Amino acid sequence: MSSLSSSSRSLHRLIYCSRSLLKPEGFAEAVEAIIRTSIRNNRRDNVSGLLFCHAGWFLQALEGSSLAVQTALGRIGSDPRHEAVKVLGAGPAETRLFREWDMCARTLSMVDDEVANTLERRGPFDPGLLSAASATRLLSTVRDVRADAALRIVA
Ligand SMILES: Cc1cc2nc3c(=O)[nH]c(=O)nc-3n(C[C@H](O)[C@H](O)[C@H](O)COP(=O)(O)O)c2cc1C
Repeated sequence: MSSLSSSSRSLHRLIYCSRSLLKPEGFAEAVEAIIRTSIRNNRRDNVSGLLFCHAGWFLQALEGSSLAVQTALGRIGSDPRHEAVKVLGAGPAETRLFREWDMCARTLSMVDDEVANTLERRGPFDPGLLSAASATRLLSTVRDVRADAALRIVA
């Protein structure tokens, strides 16, 4: 195997934030629509990820081959439902941290509120100021809260 093919197959993670342009009315439905498309495309391209929305911001992790992640980011970047897309970090990753798009879709609003309440206490939320490591930690917390909420729904 050439090094080119092994590097194109190795795992990459990219984290970006953006400003939502979604209107408050129909917000939940609009996010559901984004997630439906994302699940379909990301499964096809073997991309995993997690999307967090709070205070007019999106924060998203994308994991997959470098090509798949860049291709997804290209589509996402030209989407008129948000603006000011800023990549907080990108590079090789050891393991996938965000596998479960389905789980996110099912429990999105409820658990995001739970995390949001914690963030509110720290002052205005501006993910553009987060380091890649802090953004990854925040998304990992969202993931864990969602996993817990999903288990509670199933139980
Ligand atoms: C905040 C945000 C996050 C998105 N995340 C993804 C994603 O992870 N994967 C994806 O394929 N599309 C994502 N999209 C949707 C894309 O921007 C685009 O609408 C979609 O990829 C078009 O796919 P289609 O041509 O198959 O309909 C996202 C859009 C927004 C606004």
